[in-house]
Amino acid sequence: MQNKILSVKDLNVKFNLRGRTLHAIRNLSVDVYRGETLAIVGESGSGKTVLNKNFIGLLDPNGFIDGGEILYYGNGDPVDLAKYKGEKDWLGFRGNEISMILQDPMTSLNPLKSIGAQIGESVRIHQNLSGEKLKQAVYDLLEEVGIEEPERRARQYPHEFSGGMRQRVVIAIAIACRPKILICDEPTTALDVTIQAQILNLLKDLKVKFNLTVIFITHDLGVVANVADRVAVMYAGDIVEIGTAEEVFYDPRHPYTWALLGSLPQLGIKGESLYAIKGTPPNLFMPVVGDAFAPRNPRALKIDFMEEPPYFEISPTHKAKSWLLDPRAPKVEPPEYIKNIRKVGGEVDGR
Ligand SMILES: Nc1ncnc2c1ncn2[C@@H]1O[C@H](COP(=O)(O)OP(=O)(O)O)[C@@H](O)[C@H]1O
Ligand SMILES: [Mg+2]
Repeated sequence: MQNKILSVKDLNVKFNLRGRTLHAIRNLSVDVYRGETLAIVGESGSGKTVLNKNFIGLLDPNGFIDGGEILYYGNGDPVDLAKYKGEKDWLGFRGNEISMILQDPMTSLNPLKSIGAQIGESVRIHQNLSGEKLKQAVYDLLEEVGIEEPERRARQYPHEFSGGMRQRVVIAIAIACRPKILICDEPTTALDVTIQAQILNLLKDLKVKFNLTVIFITHDLGVVANVADRVAVMYAGDIVEIGTAEEVFYDPRHPYTWALLGSLPQLGIKGESLYAIKGTPPNLFMPVVGDAFAPRNPRALKIDFMEEPPYFEISPTHKAKSWLLDPRAPKVEPPEYIKNIRKVGGEVDGR
């Protein structure tokens, strides 16, 4: 069996908001394997960011873990990150073991400090360098992320960098402490397509070079085909389907995954109109009954509204939480474009 680096078990995360409680992560379990790229996909609001912020101790102050474990095996024996309390516990961990790149590079850079100073802070803390050696380490990092003329660029400020270049700087800061896991939270969403591709390539190169495990968060399934070994599909605070990229693209089983694939413009489905995902996700201030996707699922069964489905195993690497996979379920045909997907699949992932 593959080597786990992170193992989340029955995790529940809640937020207190004006006297009410929002259940953002609902009993979620997932394993992340050493050296893989795991993509987490799902609509905005499905809990992708909240889930991952638990891995670096950056949950918003009104949020809290209400049960579950986050076992980190980075250094051999597991430590339970769910038990970490406060900055003291996280200080030596964040950045050194797990690093996170956020969607908007502007929010993670200080507009008043030069690029060199900001990268230098990370390097100094980790590698304990100063003076010329520190400068050289900063230049090396800038080159590592594809920024030319590092001496000149290091003196500049964030506003003198384009969006793509800023994201490269953020990546440099994230890898400065040589983390084992790099979490990329929609790292290319704010960028145009050409730049997006460059950043994805950079991340792929760095992953190999620095032996990283990557968690890649996105709402765009089109992006993940290019980068992911495995894909986890999130809906309403839980993972409803997970498998290898091949399995999730070519043999998706959860109706929500069907819907997500249907909204991929790359499929350019002829004959059948795009399967727009109608309706809205459930209100997580209220308990969810049955399959959270049922109210939006035109193919829902009666039981979907009553009982939460367990995971059904499709292969040793592929499982989905849908009653459609129960051997007793009536045969429900997926939409036409899912049946055709093998034919057009090559276009989606370029393989
Ligand atoms: N600080 C907070 N207080 C209350 N609710 C929050 C807070 N942060 C996130 N949420 C809620 O948690 C859910 C998941 O959010 P998020 O993880 O940001 O979604 P995603 O990253 O998938 O777009 C959403 O319903 C969001 O409104
Ligand atoms: Mg998010």
